[in-house]
Amino acid sequence: MKTLSLLALLLAAATARASDSAGLKDLFKDDFLVGAALNQRQFEERDPRVSELILHQFNSITAENNLKWGRIHPRPDAFDFQAGDAYVAYGEKHHMVIIGHNLIWHNQTPDWVFHDEQGNLLGRDALLARMREHIRMVVGRYRGRIHGWDVVNEALADDGTLRQSMWYKIIGPDYIEQAFRLAHEADPAAELYYNDFSLERPEKRKGAVELVKRLQAAGVPITAIGMQCHSRMNWPSLADEETTIQTFAALGIKVMVTELDIDMLPPAVKDPTAEVSLRPMEYDPKLDPWRDGLSDAAAQAEAKRYAELFALFRKYRGSITRVTFWNVTDGDSWLNDWPIKGRHSYPLLFDRDGKPKPAFDAVRAVAAKEYPQ
Ligand code: XIL
Repeated sequence: MKTLSLLALLLAAATARASDSAGLKDLFKDDFLVGAALNQRQFEERDPRVSELILHQFNSITAENNLKWGRIHPRPDAFDFQAGDAYVAYGEKHHMVIIGHNLIWHNQTPDWVFHDEQGNLLGRDALLARMREHIRMVVGRYRGRIHGWDVVNEALADDGTLRQSMWYKIIGPDYIEQAFRLAHEADPAAELYYNDFSLERPEKRKGAVELVKRLQAAGVPITAIGMQCHSRMNWPSLADEETTIQTFAALGIKVMVTELDIDMLPPAVKDPTAEVSLRPMEYDPKLDPWRDGLSDAAAQAEAKRYAELFALFRKYRGSITRVTFWNVTDGDSWLNDWPIKGRHSYPLLFDRDGKPKPAFDAVRAVAAKEYPQ
């Protein structure tokens, strides 16, 4: 009993530290929204401690998985809106800016989407019809409630050409434009985003610029480019990050940081910012060095890196309207299971107990700095 209440006290004290003072959403309120990707447990408010943390720190949410095609439209004739409805209701209850992630992607999209009942590949018109039905149903259901959608996710290959996805192969390059037009029809007030990773790679950045320009020339309603910003300690350089933000801002659309994290683990592949399959690789203890916790030195280095990134985001606050972390605590990060399953990753501002890390304080300190208007 005694140990239990001591534990409760300690936990309360830890929570108090992060919630004592203004949350990130308040500290950066004149700069941009601060968001997090939530899993189902989180938007169902099943863990009071994490719920409190989320509500205190963030004013925008993204569904980590629950709006993806495979979850919300698992079979040709079946939509499953249960989790999506709970996610949107949670955001509304707490007056958060609700993001829809995502409509058209090559991953987490069932195989049936591209085949008919006999198992034959669909033709262009049939796949377009399927896309139309999906976007109408999903965007239409949350019309006026989901603020903005990642309409197309990760359509570019590492070299900046269009990825040879099933969408591309069957419909052709205009599938992107079609998806945006359908989303706009289904909710004319919703913001519409193109979202991708490793956009700091010069060739991919160039491809993104060309894509956005093509869409703009065709009169496609695109609001923003989403830079996922899955980062590492040594990548991207601040100079590359800055060039990327400037280049996108010059297109006259908003820029959003949509999936921020800093991978502290050794790279699992030679070029960790290039395309890696979602299927996890075999566990190797050599690639999991922080099983007993991140060293102080590494935690300090991470804090410095986070501060540098946030200082840069703040510098471009005229263009950057949202910065969203991909997950809330280190414990729920997708990087524990990708690209290798079962590692111990430390990519976020809160540790596995929901306690603020040095990176949290470093980011807070950036908000306190005066900036010329
Ligand atoms: C990830 C989720 O975090 C995982 O839980 C899931 O198993 C795979 O997808 N880019 C994206 C996100 O746009 O949807 C991905 O999310 C991470 C990379």
